Amino acid sequence: MKILLFGRGGQVGWELQRSLSVLGELVALDFDASHNPDGLCGDFSNLPGLAETIRRVKPDVIVNAAAHTAVDKAEAEPELARTLNALAPGVLASEAQKLGAWLLHYSTDYVFDGSGQQAWREGDATGPLSVYGQTKRAGEQAVAACTKHLIFRTSWVYAARGGNFAKTMLRLAGERETLTVIDDQIGAPTSAELLADVTAHALVKAMREPELAGLYHCVAGGETSWYGYARYVLGQAQALGCQLKAGPDQVSPTPTASYPTPARRPLNSRLNTRKLQAAFGLALPPWQQGVARMLTETLS
Ligand SMILES: NC(=O)c1ccc[n+]([C@@H]2O[C@H](COP(=O)([O-])OP(=O)(O)OC[C@H]3O[C@@H](n4cnc5c(N)ncnc54)[C@H](OP(=O)(O)O)[C@@H]3O)[C@@H](O)[C@H]2O)c1
Repeated sequence: MKILLFGRGGQVGWELQRSLSVLGELVALDFDASHNPDGLCGDFSNLPGLAETIRRVKPDVIVNAAAHTAVDKAEAEPELARTLNALAPGVLASEAQKLGAWLLHYSTDYVFDGSGQQAWREGDATGPLSVYGQTKRAGEQAVAACTKHLIFRTSWVYAARGGNFAKTMLRLAGERETLTVIDDQIGAPTSAELLADVTAHALVKAMREPELAGLYHCVAGGETSWYGYARYVLGQAQALGCQLKAGPDQVSPTPTASYPTPARRPLNSRLNTRKLQAAFGLALPPWQQGVARMLTETLS
């Protein structure tokens, strides 16, 4: 089996290079063609180049981990966000469809408007509040045009590699006596490792059972706020012997309204994962497990 991976350098892309490598021949692309085998184009702003890459590689599976993920920046560059998050996935979908290939793609809790308290189900009405959310929703629709597609909506992604919220909190807690963190956005921090492992497992099963094609919510178990997440990170870091100026009790909660950003974010980012767990026979571990693991990896 030949797998073509886009966005290999991102949080999820990096972990996919590990988890997909056991499934077959993996062609993993960066957006800079000079880093790619045979100078293959992996740049999502070059739509004809992407189509040409897929025609040359002729993969059985395409996995798309590339995206415009700078949520606030996207407000100022909506056309670029639309190209990367919607038009390029559309090219992947039409080329995958011609080849009869599988296409696996990631989307986001930001497709929802964040109202209510219930965990969103896959069939719930979307209502993105931001350019990022709107373009990711358009990307979902484009990918669904490929018969053999899997779309995983996830949230609050972090990884040991690269920057993330937990690392920012650790840095700030090393510099300041107190921290103030938003406590009215609720979701589940989800590790790139978990997403990559679920992806590999789901691909194998879906290739045997094509009726599993579709849209799924994929996040770690449980829920928290950014405030709760920050407190957990600082507590774990202290338990690992990390010297901090601010511990969990020096973190104060604040509402989203007190922290304006260019892009509006949903308050309720809870995603119901029952469909994924039932379809693929998976258990999704509590969010704390992955965060503790990432901190142990990076701090000890
Ligand atoms: N991060 C989150 O909290 C989160 C939450 C929900 C859903 N998701 C979704 O999960 C997926 C993976 O996200 P992630 O966290 O792994 O994001 P990430 O770390 O930002 O990775 C995105 C990748 O896309 C690449 N990229 C940027 N511009 C590109 C272009 N023109 N052509 C090709 N590649 C380009 C980036 O390269 P550079 O790094 O070199 O720019 C990076 O490798 C995305 O679909 C995202 O929307 C993420």
